[in-house]
Amino acid sequence: MKKIQYYLVSTIVIFIVSPLLRVINKSWYNRKILPLTINRSCASKPMMYQRKKIIPNASGTVLEIGIGPGHNLQFYDSSKVDKVIGVDPSNELNEIAKKKANKNNIDIEFLLTTAESIPLEDNSVDTAISTYTLCSIPNPDASLQEIKRVLKPGGNLLFSEHGKSPDRGVARFQNLIDFFWPEIAGGCHLNRNMSEMIQTNGFEIKELDTMYVPGTQKFVGFNYWGAATP
Ligand SMILES: C[S@@+](CC[C@H](N)C(=O)[O-])C[C@H]1O[C@@H](n2cnc3c(N)ncnc32)[C@H](O)[C@@H]1O
Repeated sequence: MKKIQYYLVSTIVIFIVSPLLRVINKSWYNRKILPLTINRSCASKPMMYQRKKIIPNASGTVLEIGIGPGHNLQFYDSSKVDKVIGVDPSNELNEIAKKKANKNNIDIEFLLTTAESIPLEDNSVDTAISTYTLCSIPNPDASLQEIKRVLKPGGNLLFSEHGKSPDRGVARFQNLIDFFWPEIAGGCHLNRNMSEMIQTNGFEIKELDTMYVPGTQKFVGFNYWGAATP
């Protein structure tokens, strides 16, 4: 990415957006603006393309953490999936997802809670899904431990996440902007190393691909996707 773009984005965030957010009511922003922003930005063409690479591999009882507005629902293969359990603490995003769920031929249950404490039995899930969520969860290690607990032996965690870039310049910029980014982006951190985080929480990565998704700024566009097993 051209340096000028980095400077432009950081200037806007640091000097305009962040101070503005401190002045306006944050909870109003989180209830009214953020869900619409997440719904829209997470439906970008490259992100939808990434979803299509992993979601059709889900089978059996599926746990989707941070299901958000339900953009993955259209990609589940109803001939392989028995049930989807969507976990998300956002009531506003849950309402958006429920509208999509009505159009789907899949049994879906929504749990309005966090992935750090999943109200499911040990060894009760065949597939866990995390798309663009491990960046936003306040305690991703606790969530991965919970996923490990509820997954059946041999079960799969399928993921597509954005995170820390392997390029030093981009990573440095991610670290810089991460000081403010979570404030405006629903807690989203830019600099988490997703594959490392999954592995250090006791998963074996079976498949992993990485790239900058096309048409996306590099600081938010470095994607990790694949499959891991506990
Ligand atoms: C960037 S959105 C991604 C939504 C969805 N996974 C997708 O692929 O479009 C991040 C999601 O993580 C959810 N989230 C934030 N904190 C969470 C937590 N502690 N546990 C589970 N989900 C959480 C947010 O409510 C939001 O729906």
